[in-house]
Amino acid sequence: MVVILVGPPGVGKGTQGALLAEATGSRHIAAGDLLRVALRDGIELGRKAQDFMNRGELVPDQLIVDLVCEVVEKMDRDVGAVLDGFPRTVGQAESLGGFLSELDRKVDVVVVLEAEDDVLVKRIAGRRNCGQCGAVYNVHFSPPKQEGICDQCGGSLTQRPDDDPVTVRHRLDVYRRETAPLVSYFHESQAPVRRVQADQSVAEVQRAIREAVGG
Ligand code: AP5
Repeated sequence: MVVILVGPPGVGKGTQGALLAEATGSRHIAAGDLLRVALRDGIELGRKAQDFMNRGELVPDQLIVDLVCEVVEKMDRDVGAVLDGFPRTVGQAESLGGFLSELDRKVDVVVVLEAEDDVLVKRIAGRRNCGQCGAVYNVHFSPPKQEGICDQCGGSLTQRPDDDPVTVRHRLDVYRRETAPLVSYFHESQAPVRRVQADQSVAEVQRAIREAVGG
């Protein structure tokens, strides 16, 4: 299956995408993570994306389309994909649709995660990331055993540069303006769209997503 997770910043796409992929034996492909890895590894594409990301703007469509499609292309045809944070514009969705049909694949289901802004802002303010192994914590909801230290690898926990309150507000505006219209696009293109209320515990949201994708 190809599952797309759509939703505003902080709604839980990364958290839920990883769980869904693990439960279904699929590959979790997180657009933001691919960009951050490219930046960390000093790849030119990462440097091109950095300014956009720090400002909370979307990176240019072609850049992210190439990056994600390269990963999907290398995958075994029988392995499912959980696309998290991609596509984010109608242009990206059109490119993905064309690319998948060349591989004789299609978007099987689009899951739209929803929560109120105050929930999103609180989650993002509390998020801490391990720079070493990529584990994600939350000082309010899932804190590490020792403050500032990753339980899994002992690495330091930091906040993402785009998680400051002003940039978060801008990312929410960008979501409403550029990504929310995708839902009507998918309706029109006949891909099944399922809405999931994400203001629940991680386990409850995962249960609802599994139900939505029929797994
Ligand atoms: P990206 O990294 O994808 O950021 P985002 O979409 O803004 O989403 P977040 O990572 O902030 O949140 P999330 O929904 O994954 O939530 P999470 O699970 O971490 O993109 C970053 C940037 O890259 C973009 O701004 C753009 O510049 C660029 N980019 C990426 N994709 C692009 C594309 N397709 N096109 C163009 N540009 C692109 O959860 C958040 C926190 O809440 C965590 O601490 C977590 O532990 C906690 N949490 C999660 N669920 C729950 C719960 N149910 N209860 C309590 N706490 C919870």
